[in-house]
Amino acid sequence: MPAMPAKREILVTSALPYANGSIHLGHMVETIQTDIWVRFQKLRGHTCTYVCADDAHGTAIMLKAQENGISAEEQIANIKAEHLADFTDFDIAFDNYHSTHTEENKALSALIYNRVKANGHIAKRTITQAFDPEKELFLADRYVKGTCPKCGAQDQYGDNCESCSATYSPMDLKDARSVLSGAAPVAKESDHYFFTLPEFEGYLKEWTRAGHLQDEVANKLAEWLDSGLQEWDISRDAPYFGFEIPDAPGKYFYVWLDAPIGYMASHKNLCERTGQDFDHYWKADSTTELYHFIGKDIVNFHALFWPALLTDANFRTPTKVCVHGFLTVNGKKMSKSRGTFINARTYLNHLNPEYLRYYYAAKLTASVDDLDLNLDDFVQRVNSDLVGKVVNIASRTAKFVQKAGGTLSTTIIDQALWDKTVAAGEVITAHYENREYSKAMREIMAVADAANEFIAEQAPWSLAKIEGNEQQVLDVCTLGINCFYAIMTYLKPVLPKTAQAAEAFLNTTLTLENELAFLGAHSINKFKPLMVRIDTKAIDAMVAQTQEEAEKLAKAAPANSAKTESASDLEPIAPEITFDDFAKIDLRIALIENAEHVDGAKKLLRLTLNIGNETKQVFAGIKSAYQPEDLIGKHTVMVANLAPRKMKFGMSEGMVLAAGPGGKELYILEPHAGATPGMRVM
Ligand code: 2FM
Ligand code: ZN
Repeated sequence: MPAMPAKREILVTSALPYANGSIHLGHMVETIQTDIWVRFQKLRGHTCTYVCADDAHGTAIMLKAQENGISAEEQIANIKAEHLADFTDFDIAFDNYHSTHTEENKALSALIYNRVKANGHIAKRTITQAFDPEKELFLADRYVKGTCPKCGAQDQYGDNCESCSATYSPMDLKDARSVLSGAAPVAKESDHYFFTLPEFEGYLKEWTRAGHLQDEVANKLAEWLDSGLQEWDISRDAPYFGFEIPDAPGKYFYVWLDAPIGYMASHKNLCERTGQDFDHYWKADSTTELYHFIGKDIVNFHALFWPALLTDANFRTPTKVCVHGFLTVNGKKMSKSRGTFINARTYLNHLNPEYLRYYYAAKLTASVDDLDLNLDDFVQRVNSDLVGKVVNIASRTAKFVQKAGGTLSTTIIDQALWDKTVAAGEVITAHYENREYSKAMREIMAVADAANEFIAEQAPWSLAKIEGNEQQVLDVCTLGINCFYAIMTYLKPVLPKTAQAAEAFLNTTLTLENELAFLGAHSINKFKPLMVRIDTKAIDAMVAQTQEEAEKLAKAAPANSAKTESASDLEPIAPEITFDDFAKIDLRIALIENAEHVDGAKKLLRLTLNIGNETKQVFAGIKSAYQPEDLIGKHTVMVANLAPRKMKFGMSEGMVLAAGPGGKELYILEPHAGATPGMRVM
């Protein structure tokens, strides 16, 4: 254990989630990473404050409220409650969770704007933008679609073409239309306010290289800085859900202006409620530390605009902006149809949050690399590390201590093992500090391996069979319990609930504030199992629920979208593919030999499909449209080389093709007479 450093005062944030969507496992990478760091700092005895909030402003939230038929205020209140419940159930211990739509944020945004303006760093210019004449609002680039002016690809967004990568402005699109109403946008002028970022180029070139960022992040920013900064448009026209700019009626702060100020606002709210000193943390020459944890997609806001704004407004700048990568699930981008776009609540319905906290910790590094949640590896890793290694140490030794009266011995029977266990603390704490959690978890598991080897070698269960060995058994188990005590102390930032249960069992508080002292002549309590193994059925159920949620959403989408009104407006639902891509799909004529209801499935029928030389089982979501007996004997088309998918009810080995919006309107494809099972469709 390193010498205890001087007491630090640290303010920590994670990015503010938007108030128009649910928390998913991608968000949880960040909040778990941050929460572990905060808990670690607290465990070391530092003053560490963790604040967050909902990011409540912007067009998307305004539209979401309209879609839900409620006011924007109701929308953000509902979502805030949902977000906070999800985070709380994942044991994310915020000191404050606020909102950007608050008085504190309004006042701080105005203060910062006025200071920046007084410094001459706000420019007013007239710009021309796409305007939706039906909805009567200006359209951000993502709300305009049309044909690429360069290559003719259809259905491209208003800023760049996914097909040829051309960049343009929305009004350059051919057949541009508003995604919101379907109307053709018109070009309209309005005054906008800009933060004169290029004036901070020199400052930012220095700041981005001054140890506040990971090298890879600083390198990326250097590319942008070298290609020249643009003035930043910080205003939006009414109607907009946000704060009106103090001296510009009808103009609102762009959501990204007041979002990071929301960190300050949340902290201010906490300080006002608890009598803490806000200025002590935020004054330009503050001796406190400020850490922002964010994803790699929002680096420019936090490492360019934000420090420039703060310094210009005479506030302190961040000590560190800690950037992480994205979450992939089973090696791929999270996907609704694959059942891997998993909401936090869906996970919580099926699994213990500490499993995920540990798995993320075991994979998190200080780099911006993406993190993969591989569901098989997740089960294996949690079961083998936490249950098989850590909890096992206590469950194999506690009963012998109980038998001996429940008090640990004063003898350290293997001094070298204990010294090694204590010494590991130094390496582990350094890894936590540097956000190298995966290295910390590896070290901790090495300590657990050594403890397990020791117990296996000593075999107290065999020793106990021979009379006269009582003291030796107690000494061995005392060291086992002490190793468990050290390991649970090291794991406390990751597993707060299990650590709490361990504290009750060990009859002591786990802390990293002082050097670990051997628990000798110390009475412990009865051991209760601290964690159970993950049952793979829970994973299957979670994936199935995710798929059901996605299907429900997909069915709801056509009804509230203006985009599918006419046939010529058909949205492509997948990107263009080459003939070679198409040739990878093995489409076959299949005879439906059997069709039957599936116990407990609301939407699925189990189909047995004959494709000539083999039979495949497919679960098809067509129950709403067909009675099983009407399908038997029909021919249809199936994707025969789809990777088998494990579903709640069994393996699905392909997919049948059907058309239609859903519900009763679903029609399986039937080939013309003459096509026989197994024929290739092309
Ligand atoms: O990207 C996002 O989800 C934003 N809502 C993050 C805001 S972080 C901060 F600046 F407020
Ligand atoms: Zn193009």
